[in-house]
Amino acid sequence: MPESSAQLIDGKIYAERLRAQVADQVAALKAAHGLQPGLAVVLVGDDPASQIYVRSKGEHSLAVGMHSVTHRLPADTTQHELLRLVGELNVDPLIHGILVQLPLPKPLDEKAVLAAINPDKDVDGLHVVNAGRLASGQPALTPCTPLGCMILLRETVGDLTGLNAVVVGRSVLVGRPIAQLLLQADCTVTIAHSRSRDLPAICRGADILVAAVGRPRMIRGDWIKPGAAVIDVGINRVPFDDPVKAAEGRTKVVGDVHFKEASQVAGWITPVPGGVGLMTVAVLLQNTVTAAKRQMGIESV
Ligand code: GUN
Repeated sequence: MPESSAQLIDGKIYAERLRAQVADQVAALKAAHGLQPGLAVVLVGDDPASQIYVRSKGEHSLAVGMHSVTHRLPADTTQHELLRLVGELNVDPLIHGILVQLPLPKPLDEKAVLAAINPDKDVDGLHVVNAGRLASGQPALTPCTPLGCMILLRETVGDLTGLNAVVVGRSVLVGRPIAQLLLQADCTVTIAHSRSRDLPAICRGADILVAAVGRPRMIRGDWIKPGAAVIDVGINRVPFDDPVKAAEGRTKVVGDVHFKEASQVAGWITPVPGGVGLMTVAVLLQNTVTAAKRQMGIESV
């Protein structure tokens, strides 16, 4: 196979830059207003992946100078206990952002928990009020991964006006909000999904292709328009291609895009790992600063 022709979009560079900007904003808020943005992260149970994500959120929020609290609750926490904690955080003046790590263990009701978060502290952007604000073009707290994708697109492609954007996946967490953000950026947006007819043909029309379906390497090289920007949101654990490693039960992380094929055709592409995933926590920190400023009525710092 020839060498990759696509430019790699390195999430590490953009995430580091955004975290540095957030650290500057936190310092300025402290100096000018005596305000220290505070983030509370709630983890229920002992899902190993969630533990890693939650630790990273706590460490990065401290590193940018925020007040940071992590609540680790046992897997048998009741709905009532979890709602009581959310209720306390909603009125805690030191906390400006609340994130309840998903998925929650059964039988906890995720929708009810998300609905209980004060929308102005919903730094995950998952409350229906924020989804509604986003859909109607009002200032909203916006889900972190979609906002991270938009930052990568703006930093690489630049002006997105008039481009054809195809989002594969219609999840509340990623597909729907990123479609809204692309629409706000004046793209012509198509949301495709597992029931769409002739998905390859739809994808071939995309100047911007966002893959958020959760199916390993589903999007092949010949689905991609030459020169397109490909944003791969997938995080899928699969056995190694090497049969010896696979036989040992070893796994690796791949995206929803067949990277080797797609990188021959695309103009820009995010790797997995090392692309979009790294942006999520940085955007969470930015959302916490945004939430703190709005709650305190501060326009700029
Ligand atoms: N679990 C995986 N991604 C997310 C996310 O963006 N927010 C929350 N709260 N939980 C998650």
